[in-house]
Amino acid sequence: MPEIPVLHHDAVLKAVSPTKAIDRVREALLRFHAGEWAMPPKVYLESPPFGDFRAMPALGDGLALLKWVTSFPGNPQRGLPTVTGVICISDATTGEPLMLLDARSVTALRTGAVAAVAAQALARPEAKTVGIIGCGLHGAWAARCLAAVGYGPGVCYDPRTAAANALAGELDWDAGPRESALRSLIVCCVTPGSEIVVDAGDLRPGLHLNMLGADGPGKAEASVGAVASCALFCDEWEQASHGGELTGAVQAGLVSREQVTELGAVLAGDAPGRPGAEAVTLFDSTGLAIQDLAVAAAALEAWRAGRVEAQTVVL
Ligand SMILES: NC(=O)c1ccc[n+]([C@@H]2O[C@H](COP(=O)([O-])OP(=O)(O)OC[C@H]3O[C@@H](n4cnc5c(N)ncnc54)[C@H](O)[C@@H]3O)[C@@H](O)[C@H]2O)c1
Repeated sequence: MPEIPVLHHDAVLKAVSPTKAIDRVREALLRFHAGEWAMPPKVYLESPPFGDFRAMPALGDGLALLKWVTSFPGNPQRGLPTVTGVICISDATTGEPLMLLDARSVTALRTGAVAAVAAQALARPEAKTVGIIGCGLHGAWAARCLAAVGYGPGVCYDPRTAAANALAGELDWDAGPRESALRSLIVCCVTPGSEIVVDAGDLRPGLHLNMLGADGPGKAEASVGAVASCALFCDEWEQASHGGELTGAVQAGLVSREQVTELGAVLAGDAPGRPGAEAVTLFDSTGLAIQDLAVAAAALEAWRAGRVEAQTVVL
């Protein structure tokens, strides 16, 4: 019976720094764009009225990954995290399981990391200021990853003022109202996606929007009109058009495939990025299993190199 390492939440965060996660997520987007990494569509398993489970597979660099993860929006009221679950990485040659990892920390790191990758690729080159709308778990990691690669100062907005103040205090940024956050050149929306936080009137020339919260059917953070008036980018078209920020505008017939560029194509130099200094760019992040594979593979390497300790289980 194989004995395999298990990395808990803090061990994952010790194994993979934000800058490492950013580099690895960028690389994963490039490898997927080049057709070298595979990612079947994620499967949603609704658990009404509580939330949903997602099964997310990916294959690349000799590894296969499955993430079994939740989005249960009512959980914080019960003192439980919205996102929780487990990741298994296996050897793609033999099929043997190689490691189990906490999914919450991997998800937080890779989601924060893609916000930084998108900002580096799509925001104005001189843009530094950051607005965070929604300062929960993933808003905080988007802010930490952006700060790790030199962005800031920022304005943190959350109706839970304690969450906004805590994040602002951690990064030496400011807490403020939504309108102040929206005056930044890079704005990340990371709310539950149950109400609109960006309308067409909020868009200012030169803005870059990272829309991270709407990662499943029925969620939106920007009005359809706002989405339709931006230069549009996404992590992956199928996910973004069916369960992302772009979905409403696609369903309304306002946005079609040829108007949206995948971030991997921009990173590879196969498609243009920001159309001009005055354009408003919008990146729709729905969350990809290849991002999880990127971070989980880095964690496996860290354990193999002795940089982090793991518990073990015999299956
Ligand atoms: N794109 C991705 O890859 C990805 C990955 C993980 C999670 N998500 C999604 O991101 C969203 C946030 O997840 P989380 O784990 O950070 O949740 P969370 O509950 O920790 O944080 C959400 C925060 O949004 C705040 N909020 C609620 N309404 C708001 C509003 N109108 N304006 C500003 N802030 C508001 C809440 O007070 C809370 O602090 C969820 O919808 C989740 O499914 C996306």
